[in-house]
Amino acid sequence: MELRHLRYFVAVVEEQSFTKAAEKLFIAQPPLSRQIQNLETELGAQLFERGSRPLQPTVIGRFFYQQALKLLANAEQLKSITIREGRIERTLTIAFGGSLLFGLLPRVVYLFRQQQPHLKIKMVKMNAMQQIDALKEGRIDACFGRVRISDPDIKRILLREEPLMVAVHSSHAIAQRKEGLSLADIVDETLILYPNLPKPSFSTQMKGLFSEYGLNPQNLTVVEDIQLALGMVAAGEGLCIVPESATTMQFKHLEYVPIIDDAAVSPVFLILRNNDESDYIRALIDSVYQVYDLEAIKYDRIIF
Ligand code: BEZ
Repeated sequence: MELRHLRYFVAVVEEQSFTKAAEKLFIAQPPLSRQIQNLETELGAQLFERGSRPLQPTVIGRFFYQQALKLLANAEQLKSITIREGRIERTLTIAFGGSLLFGLLPRVVYLFRQQQPHLKIKMVKMNAMQQIDALKEGRIDACFGRVRISDPDIKRILLREEPLMVAVHSSHAIAQRKEGLSLADIVDETLILYPNLPKPSFSTQMKGLFSEYGLNPQNLTVVEDIQLALGMVAAGEGLCIVPESATTMQFKHLEYVPIIDDAAVSPVFLILRNNDESDYIRALIDSVYQVYDLEAIKYDRIIF
């Protein structure tokens, strides 16, 4: 006796007719009748009242029907639990440029984790050049970064252009410019840029931004990372330009002032292998957009 015999029997009981059951099961009626006869022979029991119209199970047939329903339900449950629990665990490794950790990155990845419970997600901090090599070698699957690096094997998806702000000590006059200032207003200040290695990086982007406006800042200090840069601003060493989302980093006496120049933005990219169009990547992009929507952040949705 196989599960299919139970299914056939259940269909005949429920349809009260061999003809209707055969239609429901998409088989011809003679083989269905034969299968039920074989079942009765195997069980040594008569399962249907002979000549009854509509067809009725016997007392033992009713008992067999109840048990068959339980067995079929158990088999279904066994199948779905095994498929669910036995799914091969996939790992998605996401790299990120350091400063993104102080912005939306944790929220995006947390949301993505909740929405992909079967996926193991690993995060690694990497600079822009390391990200490209690691992607090409398959050590990571996706990266978030700010640096424009082109490579034939890599695709870069622009998620948004994030406004820039100036971090300044609260005692400095420009800390009062709540309405915003332009790059020309800070070109003669001591500017603390980050990171110091390797190039291209956010610090090279900032130098490029000044040149775009024909400005050439002279007093530059380049430090290791954003925490160091902001700590130095809080200590009164100078000013620092940061993406708006980094304003979550707070020090005593540290203020943030918007930069009003149109080009004073920093891109946020999702960087992938050229041939990667997996559903996980689609879901990751969707998590980014969900966070943008929650934060009322403007962006142009890409179709992936
Ligand atoms: C963003 O700030 O736009 C961002 C940061 C990390 C991941 C995705 C988006």
